[in-house]
Amino acid sequence: MRPPSPSLLIFLLLFFPTISNSATPSPASSPSPHSPSHSSPSPSSPSPSPSSSPPSSSSSSSSSLDPKQLKALQSLNIPTSKDPCSHNATLCDSSKPFRHIVSLRLSNCSTFVALSYTALKSLSTLQSLQLLNCPVTPIRFPPELISSLRSFTCVRSLRKVSGVWLSRLENLTDLTVSDVPVKASGPFVILGRMNKLKSITISRANLTGNLPKYIHTNLTHVDLSGNHMKGTIPTSITMLDGLEFLNLSSNELHGEIPPSIGNLISLKNLSLASNSFSGSIPGSISAIPGLTHLDLSSNQLNGTIPKFISQMKNLKHLNLANNNLRGVMPFNSTFIKGLTVLKLSGNSNLCYNHTVLSSKLKLGIAPCDKYGMPMSPPPSKDSSVDDSSDYGDSDEDDNSHKKEHHHGPNKVVLGIAIALSSIVFLIIFLILCSKCCR
Ligand SMILES: *[C@@H]1O[C@H](CO)[C@@H](O)[C@H](O)[C@H]1NC(C)=O
Ligand SMILES: *[C@@H]1O[C@H](CO)[C@@H](O)[C@H](O)[C@H]1NC(C)=O
Ligand SMILES: *[C@@H]1O[C@H](CO)[C@@H](O)[C@H](O)[C@H]1NC(C)=O
Ligand SMILES: *[C@@H]1O[C@H](CO)[C@@H](O)[C@H](O)[C@H]1NC(C)=O
Ligand SMILES: *[C@@H]1O[C@H](CO)[C@@H](O)[C@H](O)[C@H]1NC(C)=O
Ligand SMILES: *[C@@H]1O[C@H](CO)[C@@H](O)[C@H](O)[C@H]1NC(C)=O
Ligand SMILES: *[C@@H]1O[C@H](CO)[C@@H](O)[C@H](O)[C@H]1NC(C)=O
Ligand SMILES: *[C@@H]1O[C@H](CO)[C@@H](O)[C@H](O)[C@H]1NC(C)=O
Ligand SMILES: *[C@@H]1O[C@H](CO)[C@@H](O)[C@H](O)[C@H]1NC(C)=O
Ligand SMILES: *[C@@H]1O[C@H](CO)[C@@H](O)[C@H](O)[C@H]1NC(C)=O
Repeated sequence: MRPPSPSLLIFLLLFFPTISNSATPSPASSPSPHSPSHSSPSPSSPSPSPSSSPPSSSSSSSSSLDPKQLKALQSLNIPTSKDPCSHNATLCDSSKPFRHIVSLRLSNCSTFVALSYTALKSLSTLQSLQLLNCPVTPIRFPPELISSLRSFTCVRSLRKVSGVWLSRLENLTDLTVSDVPVKASGPFVILGRMNKLKSITISRANLTGNLPKYIHTNLTHVDLSGNHMKGTIPTSITMLDGLEFLNLSSNELHGEIPPSIGNLISLKNLSLASNSFSGSIPGSISAIPGLTHLDLSSNQLNGTIPKFISQMKNLKHLNLANNNLRGVMPFNSTFIKGLTVLKLSGNSNLCYNHTVLSSKLKLGIAPCDKYGMPMSPPPSKDSSVDDSSDYGDSDEDDNSHKKEHHHGPNKVVLGIAIALSSIVFLIIFLILCSKCCR
């Protein structure tokens, strides 16, 4: 057999890189919709929001905005050349002769914007004020605005705020402060006079102090995550029987989780993760009928997992990772398959009964021996961080989604590469054949 001619070798070298490059996009779709698909959803998603945001305004497009408020908007750099009520940052009422702004959002403020007392005084029809990424200097709010304001949001804005400053906003039902340092000796300073508050979020704000001993409101949403709160969970919290959402994660709280946590009968989401809670998981938690999200990870909880948890019909997300839990994990596969997220890794004395549960469930813990002790360390056991991310992440996202992402495209590409290369070899073979046979 003669060696292949140099032209064939060149042909091979030229052809192969182009196969491996073109194989990747070709199975997904034709190349034409690929590039616009990146840009098209982003402009289309914000565009419906301006049309849907001023619904109350539609009736009286005839009357125009109060001239004083128009001036105030101009001072805040909000374009007023068109109808300012149809701007997506505002919402107006339909009063006559002049309309008034009831909701205002300032986002990504330029460094020239300053809040002025006069502007805020003219804007004291506002019920909702949102500051997003606006590092303007905080000023005293006029009493008229304080009286009318129901909802106040401050995310990465105002540079820093004090608890006393916030506590003046007495008529609020909704308060959100995130990614802004809040200086106060505790949340009680802020909550003190806000008797109408339903929802409070003060997160990633370096807030210090203890959880308040007395809470005189009917809160439904409490998020104080990502602060430096200390102490234990007081009974004032477990008496909030309208509470649906409680997030105290990433603080410095300690002590036992009080069994009275089971009194929070309206609770849907509970996170006490990344604190220093100790003792065992109170079985009373399973008495909360609508609980869907339970995250107690990264604490020092010990004892066994209460088996009543598996009777919680609505539970979807359960994270008990990185604690000191021990013994035989009490869940059966029916319960486990009903969850979208289950994380148990990082509990070195916890194990599962391999006669009733398959290792395919990837629980992140070792199987039990006949004494209910972990039999052998699970794969890659020694580094608990690796361990939790390994099992945790595959549980976190949709399993199917993840798998497709990891293996699907690779297999397709591989298949196509093999197919194409065998075609190339067939062609070469045929060419060689025709040369030989001549
Ligand atoms: C509001 O409109 C401005 C420009 O008119 C646009 O840049 C911005 O993304 C819009 N914001 C929202 C939340 O729709
Ligand atoms: C503000 O800036 C952020 C990030 O730069 C951007 O995602 C957002 O759409 C901007 N918002 C507005 C209303 O322009
Ligand atoms: C809160 O609103 C009521 C009317 O809804 C008003 O009488 C009261 O003065 C307001 N409180 C403050 C502190 O402005
Ligand atoms: C909280 O404190 C830390 C450390 O002092 C700092 O890096 C962080 O920026 C602060 N967070 C806020 C929102 O100011
Ligand atoms: C809380 O709710 C109860 C019953 O719904 C009501 O009687 C009470 O006035 C409310 N308290 C506050 C501070 O709004
Ligand atoms: C609680 O807050 C943390 C940090 O802000 C966040 O990552 C987590 O998703 C929240 N948990 C729930 C149940 O909302
Ligand atoms: C669990 O932790 C508590 C508090 O740290 C401790 O008193 C108790 O002895 C521990 N129980 C077990 C079984 O380790
Ligand atoms: C509450 O938990 C559910 C289930 O994990 C989740 O889908 C939902 O987004 C959570 N709600 C909030 C406000 O974080
Ligand atoms: C799994 O556990 C649940 C709750 O304990 C129970 O109702 C169910 O019958 C069990 N399923 C099987 C197949 O054992
Ligand atoms: C595992 O389950 C089997 C069957 O239910 C039971 O006989 C056995 O005692 C269990 N093992 C442990 C360690 O709990």
